[in-house]
Amino acid sequence: MSEKANIGVVGLAVMGSNLARNLASREGNKVAVYNRSVERTNLLVAEHPEANFIAAETIDDFVASLQKPRTAIIMVQAGAGTDAVINQLAERFEEGDIIVDGGNALFTDTLRREKEVSAKGLHFVGAGISGGEEGALKGPSIMPGGSAESYKTLGPILSSIAAIAEGEPCVTHVGTDGAGHFVKMIHNGIEYADMQLIAEAYDILRQAGSFSPSEIADIFSEWNKGELESYLIEITAEVLKQVDAKTGKPFVDIVLDQAGSKGTGVWTVQTALNLGTPVSGIAEAVFARSLSSQAAQRNGAPQLATGTTAWKIEDKKAFVEDVRKALYASKIVAYAQGFDAIRAGAKEYNWNINLGNVAKIWRGGCIIRAQFLNRISDAYGKNENLLSLLFDEYFQKAIDSSVSSWRSVVAHSSLAGIPNPAFASSLSYFDGLRAERLPAALVQGQRDFFGAHTYKRVDLDGVFHTLWSGDRSEIETTPSSH
Ligand code: 6PG
Repeated sequence: MSEKANIGVVGLAVMGSNLARNLASREGNKVAVYNRSVERTNLLVAEHPEANFIAAETIDDFVASLQKPRTAIIMVQAGAGTDAVINQLAERFEEGDIIVDGGNALFTDTLRREKEVSAKGLHFVGAGISGGEEGALKGPSIMPGGSAESYKTLGPILSSIAAIAEGEPCVTHVGTDGAGHFVKMIHNGIEYADMQLIAEAYDILRQAGSFSPSEIADIFSEWNKGELESYLIEITAEVLKQVDAKTGKPFVDIVLDQAGSKGTGVWTVQTALNLGTPVSGIAEAVFARSLSSQAAQRNGAPQLATGTTAWKIEDKKAFVEDVRKALYASKIVAYAQGFDAIRAGAKEYNWNINLGNVAKIWRGGCIIRAQFLNRISDAYGKNENLLSLLFDEYFQKAIDSSVSSWRSVVAHSSLAGIPNPAFASSLSYFDGLRAERLPAALVQGQRDFFGAHTYKRVDLDGVFHTLWSGDRSEIETTPSSH
């Protein structure tokens, strides 16, 4: 073989093909492509004769066509398929070669795979790739983990295909082993919250404001010119504008209102629960999808009492602005919670993750790309130890000017019987954070009462237990004695 490829792609379904085409379109790259069924490989090469591909019929050909250190990106469905391809490559690769998993893998799988693969002297990189099919082709946001050494080879290749935001490629070495897939998982969790918040804003505008889908599309397009500017707001306007060709009805009215999911939102919440980090906005978004899909329960519910009070809207313009502010404030909470979860994960798994850089690489290419990620990046850039995004000066001001609208929208929606789980839980989280005293003190008392779980006092060091079934005197104890 004359010239070898500097990068290879295994798995040529839409995401893999698009990523391979993106790679091949960048100067300096020659891309080996391989798929289990050779027809797909042949089709890709036939459809793009201009592309700088080396088509491999077998995995041995594929490995032989790569220059050293061999670098291959796996783009197959997450799960058993990924393990199978890793094994095939690991059997053939040599010391220093790099296996990249570009799928949406669970980060704990990535931790396991990294251990197994690196024990053979190879590098294993779990890389989160966001941006859907179009992003893969034109420029995604890429979140690679793995060793710093592998990033020396991989970094320039990934930079060549990543989206560009403000002149910078949307890729950074997130951290070692599973850090990249962890951050991609949180990205998806935030994506869930963002989508749910937008959906709640739509629902409130429609139900309380009596706007039509196309009018709401215009409202979203307007919002997209300001601080809410983002890909998700932009596509929401597009979806709401869409008219069903069959019936002439708004597209949004002919779609079954049961939201699907592939699992990354659930993983985010499960992981955050384990880490003890409240990602309540993300959790509500996941649960809202679950509730929507409980068809039998929902069918049985219309006889339930309403007890609602109509939301009388006198000034429609002011109402729309209130909803916008409620959306913005709730969205800030969702991102604050997501970044908290990244920090907690980094601590737990010993990753050195720069939160400002994560915000930077989410400014372009990915699904949650948004104008205000610049502000998040500035906030963590100024203070890497920022306790919460909500404490940054810019976001404090943003909340300050939104909070009364936020309260009004949550209260009125609840009175009117319009479900707003993500709006309401974000506000509750905010109030929980603000509260000088929380009723957690009472919970501690209850725990000590029934389980002698002990408590700490506000005025003394030490751990205490009250003899509830005795004379109710207090004894100082140690947590390990219970
Ligand atoms: C992305 C997306 C992508 C995928 C989601 C969809 O970043 O490009 O997040 O990974 O579209 O996983 O997830 P659900 O099917 O769970 O909504």
